[in-house]
Amino acid sequence: MSDLLQQVKARQWFYNYELPDGSSTETYHGDQLSAIHETRWQLLQRTLEQAFPQGLAALDAIDLAAHQGWFSMQLAAAGLSRVTGVDQRASHVEDSRLMAELLGHKQLRFLHSDIFDLDTDALGQFDLVLMLGLLYHLENPVGALRLARALCKQLCVLETQIVPGMSGMVDFGSYRFVRPLKGSFGIIDEIDETHAPEAGATGICLVPSLEALTWLLHKVGFQRVEVLPPPVDAYEQLLYGKRVMVAAWV
Ligand SMILES: C[S@@+](CC[C@H](N)C(=O)[O-])C[C@H]1O[C@@H](n2cnc3c(N)ncnc32)[C@H](O)[C@@H]1O
Repeated sequence: MSDLLQQVKARQWFYNYELPDGSSTETYHGDQLSAIHETRWQLLQRTLEQAFPQGLAALDAIDLAAHQGWFSMQLAAAGLSRVTGVDQRASHVEDSRLMAELLGHKQLRFLHSDIFDLDTDALGQFDLVLMLGLLYHLENPVGALRLARALCKQLCVLETQIVPGMSGMVDFGSYRFVRPLKGSFGIIDEIDETHAPEAGATGICLVPSLEALTWLLHKVGFQRVEVLPPPVDAYEQLLYGKRVMVAAWV
């Protein structure tokens, strides 16, 4: 067994990676979550095929909150010319680099950074921005959406947990100044779980309603926002609308 393969097998994985020797990585969740990754990849793949019928070879992408890089690697395997993965956890970035080396994906790079510390001027813009499984871990989701827009040249695919929305009119300071709610946020307490490999940095999580998410995506500068219909065999959260995957176009 090669040294790289040995190192990969010695680590714990969030994703079910297929390895060159025909085996696959053991996940630390006993494969409970592999269905969510598969559903999201299926949706992403379908969206890319429809959006770029001429093929993916000319495209580059940034994967914000890449974790151990599975979606970045799927994109590289699908033929994108260059993919940049970013994650705040050094161990995830090390795992991603190790896996990319083992799988021979030379068009990948992984940056260790909080997404809010990225230098957008230096990075430039990407044809595809991925923001999967991140928004609902953040205390500044609007800032994250602005960042996604700033980095995006064509298409942003975003996936998030959502909360039930409120609607109605609000007396905004006076009965003479009445405004409609454009959506709402739910607060989730993840403060005692920030050590978890999937968590955000502060544990204060603002989770948008679907109305809030689509309204905000338009307001930060996306022209068209489409909620992607889940396949019939989708992971339950996507199937029942507890999470959504959306395509937002510049
Ligand atoms: C639920 S996981 C999602 C991973 C992957 N995008 C996916 O959907 O499978 C959340 C990831 O976001 C990362 N993360 C959380 N807050 C971040 C931030 N402010 N900047 C960069 N990464 C962050 C975590 O380290 C973790 O890898």
